[in-house]
Amino acid sequence: MNLEDTIYKRQSIRLYDDTPLDNQTLNEIRNFIENAKVLNPNIKWSYDILSTKNIRTIMRWKAPHYLVLFSEEKENYYQNIGFIFQQVDLFLQSKEIGTCWIGMASPKKYKNEDKNQKFIITIAFGKSPNNIKREINQFKRKDLDEISDKSDEKLVPAKLAPSASNSQPWYFTHNDDGSYDLYRVKLGIIRNKFVGKWNKIDTGIALAHLYVSNRDSFKFYKKDSPKELKGYYYDGSFII
Ligand SMILES: Cc1cc2nc3c(=O)[nH]c(=O)nc-3n(C[C@H](O)[C@H](O)[C@H](O)COP(=O)(O)O)c2cc1C
Repeated sequence: MNLEDTIYKRQSIRLYDDTPLDNQTLNEIRNFIENAKVLNPNIKWSYDILSTKNIRTIMRWKAPHYLVLFSEEKENYYQNIGFIFQQVDLFLQSKEIGTCWIGMASPKKYKNEDKNQKFIITIAFGKSPNNIKREINQFKRKDLDEISDKSDEKLVPAKLAPSASNSQPWYFTHNDDGSYDLYRVKLGIIRNKFVGKWNKIDTGIALAHLYVSNRDSFKFYKKDSPKELKGYYYDGSFII
């Protein structure tokens, strides 16, 4: 299955075989990561693949592998990580390998070689004893007209994107020239402290689904003076 078709089938997996993946598969994954498209080429990022014993998590389930993700702190860095690694999530699921983004897991005693990069988030992955695919009617998502100023089928891949606690914090507006603006919901102070950063990863994830579905036309940019939308932050603009 290709990455685009995987958007309509994937789901978060929380039941894994203990058996690790073979080295050839792990190398294919590394190779995919190193060739994934980035949103912001000026931001340094890195990753490592760790086993269960090197991960601290409050999740009651365990996976044989964890991608731990790091980035420099520059404008849009959470979105950039979401964008790159949602392509990886789709790649893994297209190969029948289960995945789950986990905000609630971090590497134990890990030192990144680049001290300017901080730990961002983890993705659990591995083979599952279950069928990891689902049907389109099993997705629990907002309707298109709740996430956009106009119901637009071109936004379906974004609508299906995974997000922390399935909060789907994105809103899309249409411009007269055919481009789109992307907004992220504003949270109260307390919620922002705990989940604000995940919402930024979420909008990057939604953009990854739009890129994978429109590889030739996708372009992302930031406007200097974007339109304000009450209750939302501007997160960027794109063409698809
Ligand atoms: C940034 C982010 C953080 C997440 N953190 C967790 C987590 O800590 N634990 C968990 O079980 N699932 C976590 N998830 C998975 C979401 O709960 C899941 O993507 C969402 O409910 C939609 O379900 P789906 O991925 O099956 O479509 C996270 C997802 C994202 C995108």
